[in-house]
Amino acid sequence: MSVPHTALVTGASRGIGAAIASALSDRGVTVLSPRRQDLDLLSSDSIRAFVARHRNAGIDILVNNAGINILNAIEAVRPEDWQAMLQVNLTAPALLAQGLAADMRARRWGRIVNVSSVFSQIAKEKRAAYCASKAGLDGLTRTLAVELGPDGILVNSIAPGYVDTELTQQNNSPQNLAKITRTIPLRRLAQPHEIARLIAFLCSEDNTYLTGQTLVIDGGLICQ
Ligand SMILES: NC(=O)c1ccc[n+]([C@@H]2O[C@H](COP(=O)([O-])OP(=O)(O)OC[C@H]3O[C@@H](n4cnc5c(N)ncnc54)[C@H](OP(=O)(O)O)[C@@H]3O)[C@@H](O)[C@H]2O)c1
Repeated sequence: MSVPHTALVTGASRGIGAAIASALSDRGVTVLSPRRQDLDLLSSDSIRAFVARHRNAGIDILVNNAGINILNAIEAVRPEDWQAMLQVNLTAPALLAQGLAADMRARRWGRIVNVSSVFSQIAKEKRAAYCASKAGLDGLTRTLAVELGPDGILVNSIAPGYVDTELTQQNNSPQNLAKITRTIPLRRLAQPHEIARLIAFLCSEDNTYLTGQTLVIDGGLICQ
């Protein structure tokens, strides 16, 4: 018989995060999806305070979903934008995993999913910090899988291609998206619930042996 689970999902106000929160909740998981006032990933102090408030709250699933992508050619990247992308996309997931690992170890069960991107593996102009942060996130995933595996904590990354969310609309013109769509073998963007379904599996008791991986979910985009 399965035991109750509690998940922390970051960035669940919209887009992929909202779909993850609803997929987990549909499967009987209690979901914490703090607003930015309660957990600001730009601030390591805010992260530490959140973790301290939720110690012993039974969080045994962590989905590091929130991410930002500020586009600029390398010469034009502002130091504060570089810092913000590394902080939200890489340091915050590490700090949350660090803060929540002890509770998961005590339960001898845990699931961590980091939302990476195909841009951890391929490149596109104006995405130096984004690509670097997501490649770093995949490295973090593998190390956490090795360190936490002996206590029953499974850790994976998922790497979506283009998903129909505000972030995608903001960073690609409609003409660009039409062009991109023609290069995707499935000839469409992903819908957030399609990404969420895979994450729900990775976080579930059905996932008993898959850990340390980056699973690409991109409609076939980068296998070409
Ligand atoms: N969309 C895609 O095509 C795509 C493809 C590959 C990977 N991804 C990755 O998937 C994840 C979700 O993307 P999305 O498209 O759903 O993004 P989105 O629609 O832009 O939503 C981003 C979420 O992150 C939250 N967030 C941003 N900065 C934050 C901060 N400092 N503190 C707390 N929360 C913060 C936002 O909260 P607020 O409402 O407070 O702003 C929002 O809930 C990201 O990691 C992204 O890199 C997306």
